[in-house]
Amino acid sequence: MGRKRPQPPLHLHHLLFSFLFCCSFSVLCFSNAKNEPVGYGYRVRSVSFDPSGKSLTAHLDLIKPSPVFGPDVRNLNLVASLETSDRLRIRITDSEHQRWEIPKEILPRHTQLHRRVLPQNHPTSPEDDHNSPENNIVSHPKSDLVFTLRKTTPFGFIVSRRSTGDILFDASSDISDAGTFLVFKDQYLQVSSALPILRSSLYGLGEHTKKTFKLARNQTLTLWNADIGSANLDVNLYGSHPFYMDVRLTDNRGTVPMGTTHGVLLLNSNGMDIVYTGDRITYKAIGGVVDLYFFAGPTPEMVMQQYTELIGRPAPMPYWSFGFHQCRYGYRNVSDVEGVVAGYAKAGIPLEVMWTDIDYMDAYKDFTLDPINFPLDKMKKLVDTLHQNGQKYVLILDPGISVNKTYGTYRRGMEADIFIKRDGIPYLGSVWPGPVYFPDFVNPATEIFWGGEIKIFRDSLPIDGLWLDMNELSNFITSPPTPLSTLDDPPYKIDNVGVRRPINNNTVPATSLHFGNITEYNAHNLYGLLESKATNAALTKLTGKRPFILTRSTFVGSGKYAAHWTGDNAATWDDLAYSIPADICGFSGDTNEELCRRWVQLGAFYPFARDHSEKFTIRQELYVWDSVAATAKKVLGLRYRLLPYFYTLMYEAHTKGVPIARPLFFSFPQDPKTYEINSQFLIGKGVMVSPVLKPGEVSIKAYFPSGNWFDLFNYSNVVSADSGKYTTLDAPPDHINVHVREGNILAMQGEAMTTKAARKTPFQLLVVLSSSGISTGEVFLDDGEEVEMGGGGKNWSLVKFYARVEDKKAIVGSKAMNGGFALSQQWIIDRVTLIGFTKAHAKRFKGFEVNTNVGTKTLGDSMLKLDLDGNRKF
Ligand code: NOJ
Repeated sequence: MGRKRPQPPLHLHHLLFSFLFCCSFSVLCFSNAKNEPVGYGYRVRSVSFDPSGKSLTAHLDLIKPSPVFGPDVRNLNLVASLETSDRLRIRITDSEHQRWEIPKEILPRHTQLHRRVLPQNHPTSPEDDHNSPENNIVSHPKSDLVFTLRKTTPFGFIVSRRSTGDILFDASSDISDAGTFLVFKDQYLQVSSALPILRSSLYGLGEHTKKTFKLARNQTLTLWNADIGSANLDVNLYGSHPFYMDVRLTDNRGTVPMGTTHGVLLLNSNGMDIVYTGDRITYKAIGGVVDLYFFAGPTPEMVMQQYTELIGRPAPMPYWSFGFHQCRYGYRNVSDVEGVVAGYAKAGIPLEVMWTDIDYMDAYKDFTLDPINFPLDKMKKLVDTLHQNGQKYVLILDPGISVNKTYGTYRRGMEADIFIKRDGIPYLGSVWPGPVYFPDFVNPATEIFWGGEIKIFRDSLPIDGLWLDMNELSNFITSPPTPLSTLDDPPYKIDNVGVRRPINNNTVPATSLHFGNITEYNAHNLYGLLESKATNAALTKLTGKRPFILTRSTFVGSGKYAAHWTGDNAATWDDLAYSIPADICGFSGDTNEELCRRWVQLGAFYPFARDHSEKFTIRQELYVWDSVAATAKKVLGLRYRLLPYFYTLMYEAHTKGVPIARPLFFSFPQDPKTYEINSQFLIGKGVMVSPVLKPGEVSIKAYFPSGNWFDLFNYSNVVSADSGKYTTLDAPPDHINVHVREGNILAMQGEAMTTKAARKTPFQLLVVLSSSGISTGEVFLDDGEEVEMGGGGKNWSLVKFYARVEDKKAIVGSKAMNGGFALSQQWIIDRVTLIGFTKAHAKRFKGFEVNTNVGTKTLGDSMLKLDLDGNRKF
């Protein structure tokens, strides 16, 4: 946004201090350096087991109070339970008083699962001795996760992996100095685990802009949703996700397979610092309870499946949302917007979705139109024309409702009494319209109010999606704290914006109240999640279709309702490098031709591809420069041909939780070199993007995990990596390197100006033969906007492909699940291209590539036998 952002000062001396002195004596050192409690902790008073043996409850007593950060909670309950065969939960709460926990109504946890739930029988394996004097154990032969309660003084606990003995989380007094692994106070919780520094690589704990995917050692990761431009490195940004993935190298005994991965979630919505030193991770939360979930993996993909099984799978996005989007803050009026749409058409660059920022509103009031520059009749004409051309229109909404008695939305909000309150009256903030009240999405009545406002607006202008901005909550003012309030000024100061900025700065004060007397202190990080949820419900109800919602602020589980973008990145080469998925060409600052060209080359392969820029910067629509336009046509051409692949990955994300864009280690965890790769990424498992990220460069050094890789623009360019290798690739100004790996079959369609037109073109199967077995691929088909994606009905098909070379024939087959839908739509494959023949193959056949017209084969169950010996009949 437009305000000046504080620049965090560098704390190099702190980093140096922790690095030099904290490596071998980390806990002691933490305590001395940061003035935190030493020698305090809890002891086990009693332990009881659930009859099924899948959970234990321990009662813990405080040994002695510690002098900092307020009074300690004296008695705690610890419940450790194996919720499924791959999920262990450890919950530590105050045994006498109810504390803040994220209610199930706000964040449903999917605990009633049928698959992989452990059977009721008692554990039988020899290590399951519940009653040893030193330890109590929760384990089950069907689960790879083992919980050990250590009845030392102070007590400790360990989570380990049954199959390998690897310790995943070690909060025990053996290796940690007394007490510091668990501190439990009213406004300060600390839980800490040792990590095997040489074997563990951590990913996650967002949202931060980082130079590397893998977390660097000796840093504090703060979680407190804030309107901080994503161009700021290493500080808390718009979202909070206290979840990490830990990818382990093999141990010196060789019992842990290389790349064995588990996940850890601390389900807690309060502000927190997470201190990561490499040999230790320490959570310091300012409220809530300790609610830790462990996901067994053992692959990154499986961790994501298990994690999203709990928190909800990503919402399916409509097919059209994978087209190209254009936005700008500062379009002056409807004809300016129409001119942009026309500019794309004239340049022959596909434009799927046109957006308008807050400029369309009357004095920045939600659900209104500027009567002079964006009047209703002209807006209607714009939207109608877009729709006639198969294009879409998305508008922004901000949460702040202008305080203005002549404004219907305000009046209805007041009548419904749905605004966040402080001192008994709605809290008065200030955003774009000036004075505003903020709807309280914790209140069930707000969903009705919000849905009603969207309906009134949408009845007059049939927009296709909504963009939720400023929902951290962002506030242009900072209200004075309530005197002596430990909510507005908690005893432990999180490292907000890297400068321990007060938590109330430029947001709603922590003493404000939501429905049910829930404080902003506790619910702050949940605002974006709740607004997305209400907007999703409203749009689904209104349209009967799958909604498209983009939100800036997120929390654990937000993916179930909305998509997310990086927020305010800058038009710099650095931000290009940190960018997936950011606004193409950069939001703030002036971009330039070369940067924009390189950015669209990369952005064409983001799951969400939008060009967006800030007011008063130079224009950066893709047709502005000839070289950018030419490159855009080339790369968006490939993106549109890959649309069925992206959409099938959306289905995979929605049903399994595996992201569309993935770091390399995700698919190659057994190759530790991939852990350090930050400038390349995968789309699905089969396609790798290796962009240019520096000015003036015309070649790049790219890493190729093992296998044969083929340039997706030019099939003949092969990189063969027996065991993973760096290769220098040409990257002339108009080119980005995109490769497909052997063993994949991509179902592609033709280029077109809209996704609707692209969907009408015949399919081409690109079969990349495997050097060692069969190749596989799949395509998901539905109407692209059905609310459910692949639900119980018959309105979808999943067609799976396989291919192998046999004697002198290539066998290419397909098998359809729910095949009726595919057949009813008469989707056609008219070409099969086989690449990936080895030299041995080429001796027997005509060459390295077979490009065969197969007439009109309907997509469904079929088998093609391609004669490779010349006549290519089947
Ligand atoms: C901040 C958003 O991050 C940005 O994308 C938008 O253009 C401005 N607000 C104005 O609405």
